[in-house]
Amino acid sequence: MKRYVFGTPIETEAVLDKPQVEESAITALRILDDERFPLSFGLDLSDEDIVYGLGENVRGINKRGWLYTSKNADDPVHDEGKHSLYASHNFILVSGAKHVGFFFDTPGEVLFDIGYNHYDKLVVSLVDPDVEVYVIEGDSDLDVIHEFRKLIGKSYRAPKWAFGYGQCRWSYMTSDEVRDVVRKHREAGIPLDMLYLDIDYMDSYKDFTLNPQTFADFDQLVAEMKEQKIHLVPIIDAGVKVEEGYDFYEEGKKNGYFCKDENGEDFIVGVWPGDCCLPDMLNDEAREWFGNGYKFLLDKGIDGFWNDMNEPALFYSKKHLGEVTAQLGALLSGKLDINGFFGFKDTLEHISNNEEDYKSFYHNYKGQKLRHDKVHNLFGYYMTRSASEAFKRLVPEREVLMFSRSSYIGMHRYAGIWQGDNKSWWSHLLMNLKMMPSLNMCGFLYTGADLGGFGDHTTEDLMIRWLSLGIFTPLMRNHSALGTRFQEVYQFDAVEKMKGIIQLRYRLIPYLYQAYEKAINEDTMMFYPLGMVFPEDETARRVEDQLLVGDDIMIAPVYEQNAVARHVYLPEEMTCLRFRGAELIEKTVLPQGHHYVEMPLGEVCIFVRNGHMLQLAENAQSVADLDWDNLTFV
Ligand code: GLC
Repeated sequence: MKRYVFGTPIETEAVLDKPQVEESAITALRILDDERFPLSFGLDLSDEDIVYGLGENVRGINKRGWLYTSKNADDPVHDEGKHSLYASHNFILVSGAKHVGFFFDTPGEVLFDIGYNHYDKLVVSLVDPDVEVYVIEGDSDLDVIHEFRKLIGKSYRAPKWAFGYGQCRWSYMTSDEVRDVVRKHREAGIPLDMLYLDIDYMDSYKDFTLNPQTFADFDQLVAEMKEQKIHLVPIIDAGVKVEEGYDFYEEGKKNGYFCKDENGEDFIVGVWPGDCCLPDMLNDEAREWFGNGYKFLLDKGIDGFWNDMNEPALFYSKKHLGEVTAQLGALLSGKLDINGFFGFKDTLEHISNNEEDYKSFYHNYKGQKLRHDKVHNLFGYYMTRSASEAFKRLVPEREVLMFSRSSYIGMHRYAGIWQGDNKSWWSHLLMNLKMMPSLNMCGFLYTGADLGGFGDHTTEDLMIRWLSLGIFTPLMRNHSALGTRFQEVYQFDAVEKMKGIIQLRYRLIPYLYQAYEKAINEDTMMFYPLGMVFPEDETARRVEDQLLVGDDIMIAPVYEQNAVARHVYLPEEMTCLRFRGAELIEKTVLPQGHHYVEMPLGEVCIFVRNGHMLQLAENAQSVADLDWDNLTFV
């Protein structure tokens, strides 16, 4: 491994234990002369090269043929035209005749042209020229990944119960609605371990408060849930509501813990509560203070959280609103011509997550005043770190579930992530699958997507198929947006099928948890692309819709509506275990090669590798009830 330093990079703490700086010039990459960027690197790609990596991002497992940017953004439309999602994971691995990994450690914007302008060229361009570049060469892809993972440190370990099934909705509006959802699961015998609370449990969306009307009996609710072995997992948002008399805000303001504008005033942005201040998550003192905020809920017995809106999301800035009002005034008084109108429309369209806004506020990071856009991609990481450090300080004996929407490499040591606001689209089921190995490479092991899809209305068959994938992902959470169809599994005619699949998840937990722990302990992956395990097999290297999960099994989920079978490629002889719900109904040994395998709705096929076995528990209503000692080995 070699470490190169260009300029004076901002410390990200992605890597804690750094190797010596390489004094000689970089040879694994060419430095390009591109006047649009202060620093660009290039590499020629041959036809057989696959480029893996970039963690949370759009498109394939093989990233070739597209342009990606590292720029954390709150954008709920994850379509093929997009170039980034909520995270920046600047690790890529070129796999062909050689196996070389590159990590570009910089908190600013990076562009990865991976065979987009020229299919045979990889170009990495930086908006700021200060960066640490790590080059890792190995004998195999897995070798490189192992070295990289050792470099960035051990991944976060979620509690075992966090492998249970979780139900979420934006939002369950009252404590009675929460009770009702849990009761319906328990009565129908649908296993459940977690019930998530979205923003409406708070008082006016203020962090570390409770709605005094709708969640007045919160303590009682937590106690009842505990009795039923349910963990309540509340959301925490990055923005703190500006409101006189709101303790947490007053404290932050008094101590100067919020991000400031160029004049040193608190920078005001709009998020769910309306006007908010952004805690300076990069400042050690402010971070400790924000972390202490979680105490309010920890003291009530809460042991799981999800951190949101931490790209950070800006619906508007006060500054920008002023511009809109001025333009609207001019329009109304007839002072704007048609071009002026389109200018106004444009201003309005770009009011959220506006580039200029991200350049208008400052952090106090390690004693340095830094403009936000220079460190933008670190915000979610440092917010989540604030929480995780607080848990260690405040409840060292407690195992706390923590996952975040936004992230940067380094945050994987503190928490997991969910894959953000996907939609109830079949293409997003497949994207969920493809993102798993990419995230694993970058250290994010505790992860999953909103099952059934968050935005838009789901369908019964999509829900079934998505659960059939979700039973393998560490985070298994059903979540949907305000205004969409309710998608708790008991809402559907096919509830029995869905219940069976969730029961199968519980049967798989001992297998999945050991695969997860192994990936943490051995700095490796839990979800592998086939090509990494069968590198000599050219067909396996091109498979984008099947994955190996742990050392022993392969999955090949259905991701097309109305399909009742699918093509499956077996790189070696495997045994197809067919489950109808939780019940194993058939075992078939299939030879190496191409197969067309029937997979009717409600049936799940798991392919066990030759010479391997799968352990199964008896199903249970919650992880606490699982019998880890009496397992069946198939
Ligand atoms: C964001 C989150 C989503 C949540 C919503 C309301 O869109 O990504 O999960 O439900 O905010 O809090």
